[in-house]
Amino acid sequence: MPVKSETANTPESEGSHRGPEAVHQVSQWEVFKNRKRILRNPLPFHQEKFEQYGNTFIVHIGPGKRIVFTREPETVRNILQKNHRNYRKSELQTRDLAKYIGHGILTSEGDFWRKHRKMIQPAFHKEQLQGLIDLMYRAIREELSGLPEDQIIDIFPKMSDLAFQVVAQSLFRAGDFREDMNRIQEITEDNQKMLIREMRQPYLKWWFQLSGRIEHHLGLSQEARNILDDLIEDRIRSGERRGDLLDMLLDARYEDGSPMPRKQLIDELIILFTAGHETTANALSFAIFLIASHPQVQQRLYQEVRELDFEGDKLKTLRSLGYAQQCIEEAMRLFPPVYVIDRVSVHPETLHGHTFPGGTTWLLSIYELHRSPNLWDNPETFMPERFEPELRKKYSGFYFPFGAGPRMCIGNVFAMNEMMLTIGWLFQNYRITTPAKSLTLNPLISLKPGRVPVELHSR
Ligand code: HEM
Repeated sequence: MPVKSETANTPESEGSHRGPEAVHQVSQWEVFKNRKRILRNPLPFHQEKFEQYGNTFIVHIGPGKRIVFTREPETVRNILQKNHRNYRKSELQTRDLAKYIGHGILTSEGDFWRKHRKMIQPAFHKEQLQGLIDLMYRAIREELSGLPEDQIIDIFPKMSDLAFQVVAQSLFRAGDFREDMNRIQEITEDNQKMLIREMRQPYLKWWFQLSGRIEHHLGLSQEARNILDDLIEDRIRSGERRGDLLDMLLDARYEDGSPMPRKQLIDELIILFTAGHETTANALSFAIFLIASHPQVQQRLYQEVRELDFEGDKLKTLRSLGYAQQCIEEAMRLFPPVYVIDRVSVHPETLHGHTFPGGTTWLLSIYELHRSPNLWDNPETFMPERFEPELRKKYSGFYFPFGAGPRMCIGNVFAMNEMMLTIGWLFQNYRITTPAKSLTLNPLISLKPGRVPVELHSR
């Protein structure tokens, strides 16, 4: 049974009356009792507790170990934006994930992170990305060509390949490297599976070490690094400029005018592959499924895209994809690929009358924030109309698919361009149906769908 002990104000909704309330506690016993379903999919357990205990509660996960869960918009904004200096990423990212993908902007902290974010950011500016649009579109078209028609296919692996190739082509324009890239993709996905095993079965850590499994996966990481090192070396030796992201990263300079050391450059490349491909593949797969299951939405989308010229001016085409953008935004509301964001406080902080000590681990539930009945009308319903341009502003305080504050996703414009072109082209060329009523969710490091069965019918 949860115990009411610590006193705090946990407002039920933004702007509501804030009377003193208890921060409810979920005991370790309750977690233990539910361990099997939590392992399978923790989201229903989270949802149940948010419904029972309100927007913020504490979960005891082991002796002296507790995590504060929240879907309270003001608290989320405080942690990510207003008082972000008091919060760091957890060791899950800065140590466990970094072990396989290195210390780049996703996995580092403090001055080291700030210095590299500042250096890499310009490559992802809207104007800069415009130069990559043709390249991005070519990669998308190549991946979408030859999709089987009039039979049920799982679209998720297709979207995975597409998202990986789009990042790969944007980093290394038009190189003859398909085999190398396939190998990097295999390694990235393999190592990710290992990391999940380590996270879900921490009690087997000794076995993973002893059996040489961790060693094996570190070896795979090294293999990916060597491939990237060779590609960079070839580029530098050739003196060729391709106007891709690699050129931009090679040109980037620290404040003292020096370039990024090779090891750092490789870490950043691996991080862009990792952060950029799975999230986008998930969002695209969920969006395709949702549009396929809502014929009226699909019809309105088709009206928007049917006359668009994807081969011509891509920027003009992107500007005409307003409803496609709304569909994607709504898909990411219901299924945010980054469904939880974690942070650890440095100093104590008092939030709504309750003092949380320094070292408190926070889990910001983006999934729950995006479905909170206090914030959204019909939260469980797919309604792209809620993101009409004049309404969008309404949600800016509690819609965070790309995070918020200084650590907000660096690739958000890149991802939106990619997803809008993909959805636009697919629904211009196909009417898509699905036999499934719902999807199995696979919340791992990101929120993945299980199988996404759809059928493509040529227009
Ligand atoms: C739909 C697609 C995507 C979603 C939903 C997404 C979401 C996010 C979120 C929520 C964060 C912040 C995590 C935190 O605060 O702890 C983040 C960070 C990041 N994302 Fe994305 N992302 C997407 C696509 C991309 C792409 C395409 C790239 C690059 C090609 C990318 C690169 C990064 C990087 C490097 C960071 C770390 C930024 C930093 O800490 O300074 N992401 N992403």
